Amino acid sequence: MNQGPPERPFVQVRDLRRIFDVSKPWLNRVLERAPRQYLKAVDGVSFDIRRGETFALVGESGSGKSTVARMVVGLLPPSDGTVSIAGISMNDVNVAQERQRLRRRIQMIFQDPYASLNPRWRVGRIIAEPIRAFGIVHGEADITGRVGELLTLVGLHPDDAGKFPHEFSGGQRQRIAIARALASNAEFIVCDEPTSALDVSVQAQILNLMRDLQQRFGLTYLFISHNLAVVRHMATRIGVMYLGRLVEVSEGKQLFSHPRHPYTRMLLDAVPDVAMAGKAREGVKGEIPNPISPPSGCTFHPRCPLVFERCRVENPPVIDGVACHAVNQGRIAAA
Ligand SMILES: Nc1ncnc2c1ncn2[C@@H]1O[C@H](COP(=O)(O)OP(=O)(O)OP(=O)(O)O)[C@@H](O)[C@H]1O
Ligand code: SF4
Ligand SMILES: [Mg+2]
Repeated sequence: MNQGPPERPFVQVRDLRRIFDVSKPWLNRVLERAPRQYLKAVDGVSFDIRRGETFALVGESGSGKSTVARMVVGLLPPSDGTVSIAGISMNDVNVAQERQRLRRRIQMIFQDPYASLNPRWRVGRIIAEPIRAFGIVHGEADITGRVGELLTLVGLHPDDAGKFPHEFSGGQRQRIAIARALASNAEFIVCDEPTSALDVSVQAQILNLMRDLQQRFGLTYLFISHNLAVVRHMATRIGVMYLGRLVEVSEGKQLFSHPRHPYTRMLLDAVPDVAMAGKAREGVKGEIPNPISPPSGCTFHPRCPLVFERCRVENPPVIDGVACHAVNQGRIAAA
């Protein structure tokens, strides 16, 4: 049977870069004869996300995860590279109208729901706002009805619409943020550390809710976390970031059973997990270098137990989802 051409990935990110000017103020530069300074927060990142899957980005603090997220949703313009969603380029000025329509389909959930929910608005108004803005439902009675449905969907009560955000716990506030994201009938939700501020038991409830909603509505997630244990239960595929670059992209299960990049192995060694019991716990060694003056070649080389001469001079290309000279030369076997 002819199955036709493979479906185009829902999200395509190509060679995305973002440089920040972190120079001192002009007068200091003149007096101290200090040069301008630039920070490569994201340095050539490419990945695809298929419709209905969860693609996770993991990496230590400062690796560039949030900067990627903000560029993907259009909150931050890239210095270079492209993002296209549902075949529409996010940075093509000629398709401004289409991009506007795309906005309804993309939503973002942040780590701190309290900061992202207007404290002076009642929950009903917060959730109704995207419904009104995008004209999803018309008429006050229908909007109130839809808000009640959405609150029920995320495990709250329609009467909660009359309360203010501060009347809820952290987990409940994240449920409100999810309801607001769903209010515009979003298809793609970018979640930046959505459960990192919550207690472990509450984290599990929110992750379960997100998975249920994904199955029910066929949602596509870009899920960001510094915690591999969290993404393990969420991700279809995982991308590991280090100093603005993707060093490994693997299917979720494969990343845990056969980590390839030395940095991935180091991160996994720090994950407390019964499945890994018996294995020596070494943890994450060393500190992330200053991103303003990153190490030469493979930027992981000062921390890498497998470093050899080539690593200090040459940035490893991504081959078969891994950017590592030792892996690419067959110097290390899969774990
Ligand atoms: N607006 C900005 N101006 C200057 N530097 C920035 C800006 N935003 C981010 N950075 C820098 O870019 C790098 C990547 O930051 P980013 O917030 O994307 O990392 P992250 O992986 O999300 O970290 P975390 O896990 O702490 O949230 C960091 O070195 C950060 O200091
Ligand atoms: S390229 Fe070299 S330094 Fe970088 S991760 Fe691979 S072995 Fe380590
Ligand atoms: Mg972040």
